[in-house]
Amino acid sequence: MAHGQQSHALPPVPAPFTGRREIDLDHVRELVSHLTFDDFEEAQELILLALQEVNEHYGWVSPEAAEIVARQLSTTSPRVYSLLTFYADFRTEPRGHHHMLICHGMSCYIMGSQQLVQAMQDRFGIEDGETTTDEQMSVQVVNGCLGVCDLSPIVKIDDDYHGPVTPDSLTALVSQAIAGHRELKAKEERNGEPVVF
Ligand code: FES
Repeated sequence: MAHGQQSHALPPVPAPFTGRREIDLDHVRELVSHLTFDDFEEAQELILLALQEVNEHYGWVSPEAAEIVARQLSTTSPRVYSLLTFYADFRTEPRGHHHMLICHGMSCYIMGSQQLVQAMQDRFGIEDGETTTDEQMSVQVVNGCLGVCDLSPIVKIDDDYHGPVTPDSLTALVSQAIAGHRELKAKEERNGEPVVF
């Protein structure tokens, strides 16, 4: 478990891939501006919702974005940050250009998901919550079922589900995803277009 995050599961579904590494703080203000409250209790309940909205849009929540959430809900930054770091599904650092979820639900676990986790460690040097040094791929182990048990064990890379996956086929999938991204980047550079991810 990286970056001091604990393994508390936050239902429901993990954040979808966005690949956004820079957080537009004006946009964050806009995102959470609809969250209004009548009293302290209500404001506290809205903190998780606000963090989920930012996390889902950008794939992570920066300290500056957490500060905006705190201001919107008239609470303190430490209060927001404590929730942010308590739940494993929130990220406090940007993810790679590709993001993988490894399902560790019961069915996938029985069918060998631990071998997939091990393969990511052995072959790409990353554990749960980490990103490869070239910033191409990050990985998150999800303890809840991702809803496609008939394909167990499964991984989700960006928006696509893959299964059943073996350590070897997982290695091929990751390599393909990384190669595809590099190819796209090279093509855009050749065309003189701005490369924005
Ligand atoms: S347990 Fe992995 S998809 Fe259901």
